[in-house]
Amino acid sequence: MILLDDVTLTYPDGDARVTAVDHVTLEGRPGVVTGITGPSGSGKSSLLALAATLIRPDSGRVIVDGVDATGLDAAGRTALRRERIGIVFQQPQLLPSLTAREQLRVMAELGGRGRRERRAAVQGRVDELLDAVGLGELGDRRPAHLSGGQRQRVAIARALVHEPRVLLVDEPTSALDSARGATIMALIARLTRERQTATLLVTHDLVHGDALDETFVVTDGRVNVGESASRGGRGNTP
Ligand SMILES: Nc1ncnc2c1ncn2[C@@H]1O[C@H](COP(=O)(O)OP(=O)(O)OP(=O)(O)O)[C@@H](O)[C@H]1O
Ligand SMILES: [Mg+2]
Repeated sequence: MILLDDVTLTYPDGDARVTAVDHVTLEGRPGVVTGITGPSGSGKSSLLALAATLIRPDSGRVIVDGVDATGLDAAGRTALRRERIGIVFQQPQLLPSLTAREQLRVMAELGGRGRRERRAAVQGRVDELLDAVGLGELGDRRPAHLSGGQRQRVAIARALVHEPRVLLVDEPTSALDSARGATIMALIARLTRERQTATLLVTHDLVHGDALDETFVVTDGRVNVGESASRGGRGNTP
């Protein structure tokens, strides 16, 4: 579960401050893909950065899996991210010198389960995830030898390797053609169900809206009640 509770975020802007997120309340629940959409500059990435505990809100609370991140110091927030949050950025941000399998293994070893896992257990989890994203055969390739869509799959698998409760995804399809984009969105929807992550997904267009269980529209930093569209059914409050 992830809850943004009445969060506001401002950035310095000369002598003044610009409000990027304005008293937003938004919840992501296990097994549900919550879409965040809206025009460029409306505050979508800022919302995601707040959810990721990468920036602190000026006011309001960010609750990750029951833990109030706003009460934690930087080290505490880093630990929280390592244990409970998976992040997929717009650009996959893979390490060029590592193979797909190694990208996941490094994350599994960094990602804190708070105990040393046996190498074989890590390897098993890594291989299972590569299979789950359809890259079982390509684990030995480096990013330069993968397509854009395949790199994005590696990034998704890497974000899940420490088994986070919360998955945050920013514009995963923007570098892909629409067919590949649809596949990535369907993949995220499937993994969200299978792994019961609370998934927040930012997208500036709703071409792939089918993969979203509900959608919040952000305008000028605000999520207006009533503008939140929903396709109903699973996960939504009746
Ligand atoms: N680091 C920063 N410093 C100052 N202002 C910023 C910073 N990051 C974002 N902003 C401003 O905050 C507002 C929201 O930006 P944000 O990146 O969250 O929008 P977005 O909805 O993700 O846009 P896009 O669809 O273009 O990615 C914008 O007015 C932007 O100019
Ligand atoms: Mg953005």
